[in-house]
Amino acid sequence: MSSSAPRQSVTVTDNRTGKTIEVPIQNGTIKALDLRVLKTSPEDFGLMTYDPAFMNTASCKSRITFIDGDKGILNYRGYPIQELAEKTTYLETAYLVLNGELPTKQQQTDWVNDITYHTMVHENIKDLMTGFRYDAHPMGMLASTVAALSTFYPEAKAVHEPETRRQQIVRLIAKMPTIAAFAYRHSIGFPYAHPDNDLSYCGNFLQMMYRAAEPKYVPNPVLERALEVLFILHADHEQNCSTNAMRAIASSEVDPYCAAAGAISALYGPLHGGANEAVLRMLFEIGSKANIPAFIKSVKESGGETRLMGFGHRVYKNYDPRAKVIKGMAEKVFEVTGKNPLLDIALELERIALQDEYFLKRKLYPNVDFYSGLIYQAMKFPVDMFPVLFAIPRMSGWLAQWDEMIQDKEQKIARPRQVYLGASERHFVPFEKREVKAAPAEGVLTKV
Ligand code: CMC
Repeated sequence: MSSSAPRQSVTVTDNRTGKTIEVPIQNGTIKALDLRVLKTSPEDFGLMTYDPAFMNTASCKSRITFIDGDKGILNYRGYPIQELAEKTTYLETAYLVLNGELPTKQQQTDWVNDITYHTMVHENIKDLMTGFRYDAHPMGMLASTVAALSTFYPEAKAVHEPETRRQQIVRLIAKMPTIAAFAYRHSIGFPYAHPDNDLSYCGNFLQMMYRAAEPKYVPNPVLERALEVLFILHADHEQNCSTNAMRAIASSEVDPYCAAAGAISALYGPLHGGANEAVLRMLFEIGSKANIPAFIKSVKESGGETRLMGFGHRVYKNYDPRAKVIKGMAEKVFEVTGKNPLLDIALELERIALQDEYFLKRKLYPNVDFYSGLIYQAMKFPVDMFPVLFAIPRMSGWLAQWDEMIQDKEQKIARPRQVYLGASERHFVPFEKREVKAAPAEGVLTKV
């Protein structure tokens, strides 16, 4: 007699009341809402889960990106990142991320053509960007300008129309490099360089960044490919901070330009896409290999205040597979650009950290940002542009996640619950009767 398969459920007993419920398990999760039936009285709201920073909560079902953080695996739509980095272009990968399958030759031709012919921005966008201060951070300029696109394409509000969504996806992916390059040229006081349709997505971006007086800019093929690979590695990373921001904002059904501006803002933070910039500043500060032990000591003694930037990840508890590809590529880039003198410090820092009990115990390994900045710097991108270089390719991931969310019948406007610990209801007191009071004591749960 074969033993019956185990029931896919958990049994929960509420010790406050003695009530027991059986909660189904699906895809390794239970529904938080299933716990609401556990109440201490009919008026009780019901049991909730408490999960700040979503440490153990899946906010959606997705078919786009798979990560196994312990094994260091990252796949887009099932394809390992290493294969995509070796064999595809960024736009081919973006198509895959957005559509679920690699394009056929014809689909690729049409897709590249579509993107290429939407790279121009309205002249008023240029005027708008001219209004920024000469030293404005390009990430601030990027976020604001992408939000401003919303006013140029009011039809984008029709988020439930597939063709309208597709049109905004093309526009956003196409215009990101143009806006990014404009932001850079504004900061150095150069006239804007218009897109060149003869060039690839990455080649054109380099052209818009660096073209001076030459009639035709020809990108260095090694650097163009390196950028292509970096863009592929950054295309998506499932439910990270900025993607979660994109989904949360777009869940109100606002247009994708406003939602993407929010995602760009989330990416700007030093714990997320701003880390590559922070790594470079950290390496500058360390200055020489001799100073590394003292720096590592200060990190360990700071109680989490000072961090080894470019190390650690919420999901990866192993070497970030993206960092491996980037580290391998650095040599090819440095053959063209000359070696970045900060590389030796980075390599030594990694060597020392990976032998240190503090980092080993916490499973802190180099992440994508540890080496990418060194390459960007060798390619003459200013440090301020590093998070922008993350945002350009991540746009395809944000849009794929947005498109998936809009079509997901289980999704609703994102609206978490809270545990209210503030004052219980009290009544207005006029100025003459108010006294300076200590803040209400914490930890007193007030029912509302
Ligand atoms: N240097 C030193 N200690 C660290 C570091 C680090 N980079 N990262 C984590 N820790 C320590 C932290 O102090 C804590 O120690 P303890 O247990 O003694 O309190 C422990 O490791 C766990 O850290 P955590 O803050 O609870 O971990 P998290 O999952 O919330 O944070 C992280 C993930 C990426 C924000 C964090 O590792 C970090 O701040 N890294 C540096 C910034 C960075 O490189 N960010 C780029 C991430 S990859 C690009 C992207 O996808 O955005």
